Amino acid sequence: MQVICVSSLKGGVGKTTVTLGLASAAFAKGLRTLVIDMDPQSDVSSALASRSSHGYSIDSVLTNSSGSVVRQAVVPSSWSGPDDVPVHILMGSPLVSSHDKPTPTKQDLWKLEEALATIESQYDLVLIDCPPSFNGLTQTAWTAADSVVIIAEPGLFSVTAVHRTLLALHAMRLKMSPRLRTAGVIINRFRPDSAEHTFRLAEMKQLFGDHILEPILDETLILQQSTGAAVPIHRWPGEQAQTISHYFDRLLVKVLVGAENVRG
Ligand SMILES: Nc1ncnc2c1ncn2[C@@H]1O[C@H](COP(=O)(O)OP(=O)(O)OP(=O)(O)O)[C@@H](O)[C@H]1O
Ligand SMILES: [Mg+2]
Repeated sequence: MQVICVSSLKGGVGKTTVTLGLASAAFAKGLRTLVIDMDPQSDVSSALASRSSHGYSIDSVLTNSSGSVVRQAVVPSSWSGPDDVPVHILMGSPLVSSHDKPTPTKQDLWKLEEALATIESQYDLVLIDCPPSFNGLTQTAWTAADSVVIIAEPGLFSVTAVHRTLLALHAMRLKMSPRLRTAGVIINRFRPDSAEHTFRLAEMKQLFGDHILEPILDETLILQQSTGAAVPIHRWPGEQAQTISHYFDRLLVKVLVGAENVRG
């Protein structure tokens, strides 16, 4: 089981959208996939959940990480079909904010890792959609992870956020989790017709070099449409959806290689 966090210390850059795109690529490959919603906004749960977890959620799991609580908080996503290996979702909740402590203890930080140990044999891939700051929840998610993929937009504030995220990852490696790796930086919402975007992309390539994962994801309405319709991008009709799906296939391979290197 590989555990990958999708993170950015800046809001609204596409963490949830990329989590869904990577989950869609994993779904298309038939990987046994669990998506964990670590964000109190619970956007990825809204996009994926097909049924209620009867009040059990990531909040319950961080309170009691036993296998029985974890199994109640996990539900099949709306993407499951009769012939598919279903994608599962560990439900988010606004209540998880109560675990967002400014100075979490080591015991707090190990909670998700403990919970995942109870279901380790059931999944090939765990994708964690993180909140947009370096808070207790993000640190708890990173402690359970093999690697972190950073999401960025081609804009000035995002450039500085990538730098902050890389520094925070270094600090976490020293403090909690020597195995934690940076899977790379995915650049999202690129507009090829924008001179500013072209400039920022070149700047990011210069600053972060090998960390940047190709292909770059363009801004496109169909990602918003497929998310809104709760359909994986790999099942959205049309040539453009096929192209983006293929981009996510390539990004998933790179992200998985990054996580494998953790052990290599
Ligand atoms: N490549 C893209 N093309 C078009 N729209 C996009 C793209 N990526 C994200 N969006 C849109 O941008 C908005 C923000 O994306 P998203 O919710 O994925 O960001 P986020 O980083 O998860 O935000 P938050 O920090 O609030 O959790 C959403 O409306 C989403 O549909
Ligand atoms: Mg989000």
